[in-house]
Amino acid sequence: MKTLLINIQELLQVRPTPIDKVSGTDMATLPAIQNAFLLIENNLISDFGKMEDLPKIPEAQIIDATGKTVLPAWCDSHTHIVYAGNRVQEFVDRINGLSYEEIANRGGGILNSAKKLNETSEEEIYQQSKERLKEVMKQGSGAVEIKSGYGLTVEGELKMLRVIKKLKENYPVAIKATFLGAHAFPKEFKENHSGYIDVIVNEMLPKIAAENLADYIDAFLETGYFSVEETERIMEAGKKYGLPAKIHVNQFTAINGIEACVKHNALSVDHLEIVTDEDIEILKNSDTMPVALPSCSYFISIPYTPARKMMEAGLPLALATDFNPGTTPSGNMNFVVATACIKMKMTPEEAINAATINGAYAMGLSETHGSITKGKRANLIITKPITSFYQLPYAFGTNLIEQVIIEGKLV
Ligand code: NIG
Ligand code: FE
Repeated sequence: MKTLLINIQELLQVRPTPIDKVSGTDMATLPAIQNAFLLIENNLISDFGKMEDLPKIPEAQIIDATGKTVLPAWCDSHTHIVYAGNRVQEFVDRINGLSYEEIANRGGGILNSAKKLNETSEEEIYQQSKERLKEVMKQGSGAVEIKSGYGLTVEGELKMLRVIKKLKENYPVAIKATFLGAHAFPKEFKENHSGYIDVIVNEMLPKIAAENLADYIDAFLETGYFSVEETERIMEAGKKYGLPAKIHVNQFTAINGIEACVKHNALSVDHLEIVTDEDIEILKNSDTMPVALPSCSYFISIPYTPARKMMEAGLPLALATDFNPGTTPSGNMNFVVATACIKMKMTPEEAINAATINGAYAMGLSETHGSITKGKRANLIITKPITSFYQLPYAFGTNLIEQVIIEGKLV
């Protein structure tokens, strides 16, 4: 099966030579072809170039993209799409003055979602989660990482990871699964941290590995959650099962967590609302991708990741949604890109690099996703007619996506 896009006004993120990520100093450049064609064969990008060089291609389905911009589908490297119910009451409590921390201390927050999840059947969780996945595909996400972490029991964590596996099997979007048993300490382990980590290491991980349910391991490294030492134990245990780390860190406080993550070769460090100069120095000498989650900052009113400072130091940066019921009930990467431009002062070029190729890197998918490169997956966003791709973040509340193609097929 062949599909040929013709008369593309602007084809963005064109990388004829494959790259795995873009560093902060290079993110300002987003290579493009004006008046372009792109050929899809089966699920792959098989050719692209200027319209004047269009070869004869018999028997292709034609999509006329006159006036439209085409770019790789978003790569959302950090989500918690699988959950049960919602936390609207906490949202209103925050409006009325409570902080995220105060709500958590009252038994709300992650433990609230864990209670709901453990009371909900696997099938019901699947039904709720698949609606969210379908929604983000329509919003242009073609690759998504999904975490567990609302089970916090052996059965609950396995249930979540089985739902992720089922989503993987039933939808064309690329999905990576991350085991986040270390998301919070269940009530019964409040005073017995090592007891819960024993459950994670000795009970959850062997079962997850036996069913091959996870690609990565995560922990919430934060004051009041998992300490540096506790997270190191989690990362080491993950390594034994071949699960590289992607860690929630520096969301509220900087406690030398990034140093530990880099020491353990974490694939990514995520959140980074609070970043010290030492953290930046440590990241400079690493292959660890920093990941910013601006819609979380927006929703719970915390600082934005200091993107400019980090990029000016040469660090790459990825952007992701953090889609979850507590701090970011939105999986819209278009909003993330716009918010990164508006609030973090990233240029549209930088934000798109961060939301495509660097996002792909942060979930180990940059060989197949995140750029217009021959042989990569045909995961594409086709915009409505626009005069410039700058309109994407500029018109932040308007849906400018006309069509989304995932694995060569219209969504
Ligand atoms: O990435 N920070 C930790 N975990 C999630 C939120 C968890 C929740 O409140 O449900 C996050 O923001
Ligand atoms: Fe998160």
